[in-house]
Amino acid sequence: MPMLRIKASEFARRRARLMEDMAPGSIAIIPSAREVPRNSDVNFPFRQDSDFYYLTGFDEPDAVAVLAPGREQGEYVIFCRDRDPERELWDGYRAGPEGVCREYQADDGFPIDDIDDILPGLIEGHPRVYYSLGRHLEFDAKVMHWLNTIRANRRAGLLAPGEFVDLNHLLHDLRLFKSAAEIAVMRESGALAARAHCRAMREAKTVTYEYQLDAAIMHEFMMAGVRQAAYPSIVGGGTNACVLHYVENRDKLNDGDLVLIDAGADYDYYASDITRTFPVNGRFSEPQRALYQLVLDAHKAALEQVLPGNPFNAPHDASVRVITAGLVRLGLLSGDVDTLIEEEAYKPFYMHRVSHWLGMDVHDVGDYKVDGIWRALEPGMTLTIEPGIYVATNNTDVEAKWRGIGIRIEDDIAVTKSGYEILTDDVPREIQDIEALMADT
Ligand code: GLY
Ligand code: MN
Ligand code: MN
Repeated sequence: MPMLRIKASEFARRRARLMEDMAPGSIAIIPSAREVPRNSDVNFPFRQDSDFYYLTGFDEPDAVAVLAPGREQGEYVIFCRDRDPERELWDGYRAGPEGVCREYQADDGFPIDDIDDILPGLIEGHPRVYYSLGRHLEFDAKVMHWLNTIRANRRAGLLAPGEFVDLNHLLHDLRLFKSAAEIAVMRESGALAARAHCRAMREAKTVTYEYQLDAAIMHEFMMAGVRQAAYPSIVGGGTNACVLHYVENRDKLNDGDLVLIDAGADYDYYASDITRTFPVNGRFSEPQRALYQLVLDAHKAALEQVLPGNPFNAPHDASVRVITAGLVRLGLLSGDVDTLIEEEAYKPFYMHRVSHWLGMDVHDVGDYKVDGIWRALEPGMTLTIEPGIYVATNNTDVEAKWRGIGIRIEDDIAVTKSGYEILTDDVPREIQDIEALMADT
């Protein structure tokens, strides 16, 4: 296996854990991501499927992993592209069926072209199949085809599985809890993203367009060996900050405006997800300062609720209370705070939640509720804290000075035994620290 921060032994442990959790007599099928064509002869940048990578560490397309607990010839099978000197000349190295055994600890490797002949035989005799139906429609059809192949041979004594179980529940519960090694990689991913955001703050006064800050961030990522961001970066100057998924990043940055940057790295398969909002010219105006401080107070209140045993929604509820009370204090809302919270009067200003799981995917897997109740936070879980206030340009219910201001402050947090660790603490959040960093350049 190539030298990666997550060791081969950890990948093996993940497979063993999943197999322990699987019911007796079952088999799991996990397909890789596929190349997505952009046009003839050009594909979109490839990114391995996180579930597949979590279990295999293998980053080639056109592969299928099979876990068959108790299989005599070995429990861990990979189907992959065969070696092909002609194709490898064009597209690069392939591990091949022998390579996946040698380099990725598979017990057996088979060419993907032989899967129709081999996989039905592996499935046969297992009453239960773990598989994530509905995510890869073409692959779903293949699974059904293999199933029917076995059913067609029932009279020869073959046993077709009677039960398909969603693999997501077991696998995503494993992924939700990060090991020490995973947290260490997420710390690095967070530190890299923090460095990139600091650089954007430093360069803001010297650039003209949003995309130039996008470029500064990507340059920092790529200089660290990261080929892709965890998601398309959002660089929204002025009122663009109020468009939650603004990714055009092509407008001019204006003196006197804020700019909101939401960007994170896909670092060795672990996402960071940071948002900072700062003045293009390095100094907050009075209305910007007031709203920014309110978002920061909500951030702090939410963070204090990140404690093992607290329900997942405790940070959100804390942020809602601080933001609603603050909007009343500043005159953007009026009325009784409890009633306004009950009526969700804050929603035109704060329409998203304060948190999501973070991990190999930016909005990472894992259930938020168990049996209809918000899940309790536990050590090893990683999440964002990201309150925001966005005042629509056409909100005539508020004074003109507030309109068009959009602010979000987002950090990546690991739940620890005693509370939390901020994985993205190396980029300033406090007003005076942001102004000091920007004044320094
Ligand atoms: N960058 C996506 C999010 O903050 O959730
Ligand atoms: Mn986020
Ligand atoms: Mn974000």
